[in-house]
Amino acid sequence: MGKAHFGLIGLGVMGENLVLNAERNGYSSVVYNRTYAKTEEFLAGRGAGKDIVGAATLQDFVGALERPRRILMMVKAGQPVDDTIDAISPFLEEGDLLIDGGNSLYADTDRRVAELERKSFGYIGMGVSGGAKGALEGPSMMPGGTKAAYDAIEPLVRKMAAQVSDGPCVTYIGPGGAGHFVKTVHNGIEYAIEQILAEAYDLMKRIAGMNGDQMADVLAGWNETEELASFLVEITEVCLRTKDPETGADLVEAIVDAAGQKGTGLWTVVSALEMGVPVPTIYAALNARVLSSLRPERLAAGALLPAPPAHSFSLGEPADGMAPLRDACIAACIVSYGQGMALLQEASKLHDYNLNFSAIGQIWKGGCIIRARLLQRIQNAYSANPTLANLVLDPWFAEQINRRLPGLRQVVAGAALAGIPVPCLSSTLDYIDSYRSGRLPQNLVQAMRDCFGSHTYERTDKSGSFHTEWLD
Ligand code: 6PG
Repeated sequence: MGKAHFGLIGLGVMGENLVLNAERNGYSSVVYNRTYAKTEEFLAGRGAGKDIVGAATLQDFVGALERPRRILMMVKAGQPVDDTIDAISPFLEEGDLLIDGGNSLYADTDRRVAELERKSFGYIGMGVSGGAKGALEGPSMMPGGTKAAYDAIEPLVRKMAAQVSDGPCVTYIGPGGAGHFVKTVHNGIEYAIEQILAEAYDLMKRIAGMNGDQMADVLAGWNETEELASFLVEITEVCLRTKDPETGADLVEAIVDAAGQKGTGLWTVVSALEMGVPVPTIYAALNARVLSSLRPERLAAGALLPAPPAHSFSLGEPADGMAPLRDACIAACIVSYGQGMALLQEASKLHDYNLNFSAIGQIWKGGCIIRARLLQRIQNAYSANPTLANLVLDPWFAEQINRRLPGLRQVVAGAALAGIPVPCLSSTLDYIDSYRSGRLPQNLVQAMRDCFGSHTYERTDKSGSFHTEWLD
């Protein structure tokens, strides 16, 4: 048998599905897993009858690949990636290519690209989105690294990626850790939209008294609209409709209300804070997960800090798609994408990523978790103005925000009076109200800083730096 076109390390569910995807697209493959038993199991099961062989050692794995070798690592982010690189490097030759398809921290990828390029190997840090199904059927892929390294894998990834009307959902993102940075921000947006939908569910349940099927019907309607049609709305409908096989009741009600995370949402927020980009809706989603995990504390606090008296307000009617609530969700989703894109704008400048925002909109249209019909509008907005500072400044999105704001205000105000937390919706409202304000109260903050710390301030009526002896 000739040498294989493609190698995969790490037979977790994502790895298995990606190698099956590559093989289906005509790439004969060789697989390696730390425990060989797993490799044997795969080859006897899902890999049976396919143009896929297994290798028991990394040396055999490398030896079975045609040159330049294209090797995808699907191992846990962090130390396991470095360990895999160290273990395989002695067998690699000039021009061979390693691709990290996990959710790695972009700074780690920056370092690895530089280290591996020094050894004359190519290194690609590639965000892969779409979960297990996407990996098999066609994910959205966000590869970063040197352009030459990308060129060597382009035919492969273009075939493996999800396909939308204007092409495959993959493009060269930029140098160093650019691909993993874009994937990280994708996940920050993912956290925000998940939380927005969770808040909508909470309100429909607690204020409108709706059950799972009734809420799912509303979500199904939302999924028909240009503004909300998306994978996350679609699966929310499924989650709300699903019954517990043991009790027949809505399954979602039997799930503990404490959400975990694997780090990418946190990295989005940390990067945003470091780069000075406000992403409050994304931050609120992250915080909501963290706070949800303090379950015993919440239960104790509930006994001491009772809810306000019952307050009822209108979320709209199912027949009109719960219009105010729907509008609130539309505004918050638009703002979540906008905050993520604004962060990408800043990162692109800071790290010289030279990101193409329209192309990012295009590759997120299919395969990935945040795929949504709205991404066509996002693509259009950045095609029209590649340096758009904020999505809400685009005319189409500005009109949407103006149209949806009354609903958002009504829902946030009602939730506040009812004592129901809506962190993403309320952060969105604060963000919009702050972003559109020509005058904010930070003049007083500046005065205080100067008063106690002589930090100086600027004046509205003349230029220069001023200090006042406030306490004399
Ligand atoms: C994707 C997802 C995926 C991520 C999970 C878990 O795009 O396919 O973003 O890569 O690992 O969604 O993320 P959390 O456990 O942090 O929610």
